[in-house]
Amino acid sequence: MIVIDGVDGSGKGVQTRRLLQSFVDAGEPAILTREPGGCAAAEDIRTLLVTGEPEKWDSMTELLLMYAARRSHLHDTIWPALEAGNWVISDRYADSSRAFQGIAGNLGLEAVESIHRVVVGDFEPELVLILDIPESLALARTRDRGGNEDRFEKKGTSYHAKVRDAFLQIAASDSQKYKVVDADQSMDQVSENIIGIINDRFSLNLKINSDIS
Ligand code: TYD
Repeated sequence: MIVIDGVDGSGKGVQTRRLLQSFVDAGEPAILTREPGGCAAAEDIRTLLVTGEPEKWDSMTELLLMYAARRSHLHDTIWPALEAGNWVISDRYADSSRAFQGIAGNLGLEAVESIHRVVVGDFEPELVLILDIPESLALARTRDRGGNEDRFEKKGTSYHAKVRDAFLQIAASDSQKYKVVDADQSMDQVSENIIGIINDRFSLNLKINSDIS
């Protein structure tokens, strides 16, 4: 399992789609999934989480909903896909809970870890790529996107600045599991860096697919 995570508007959407295509082009079976969501039951929970006003729930309620969605996602999508021999690429995973609810939401990492242990156990992704970009630039991109999935974007710049720092702090805790990718570059350059890290780590020869945007 390979996760791409980072602040809102860091370009995870296009990079995860390109990465999936690179695996498919190389004849490697792979699926692309996302959090919150990634299976029918978890997509229902996603709608609750990403719409409405920021104060609708406090950080602990968000965390519990994220972990309810994550449990469904693991059970219904991730574990069966891995069992069947697929690569699983996920647009966000547990480090979003650590960064958004744990650090930026002030619950503390220990609160997240204790729930994580009960819900997930010792299952871990092989590699987590953190797309790093200044939060002001990232938020401007999300505003251009429109739509009503903006509950987290409405939490404001200082919350998102904390989220960015949080991801960097988490990445610094384990240099084998986490790799930080500078996302303040052209889309092709970011794809190039991602593919380079994955080829090195898993001895693959994936090529970037720039047709996908
Ligand atoms: P996402 O769809 O990735 O948003 P975007 O496309 O804008 O990056 O995720 C929706 C929001 O949910 C996003 O603002 C981050 C937040 N989130 C958490 O706060 N905790 C979590 O555990 C996850 C998975 C997401």
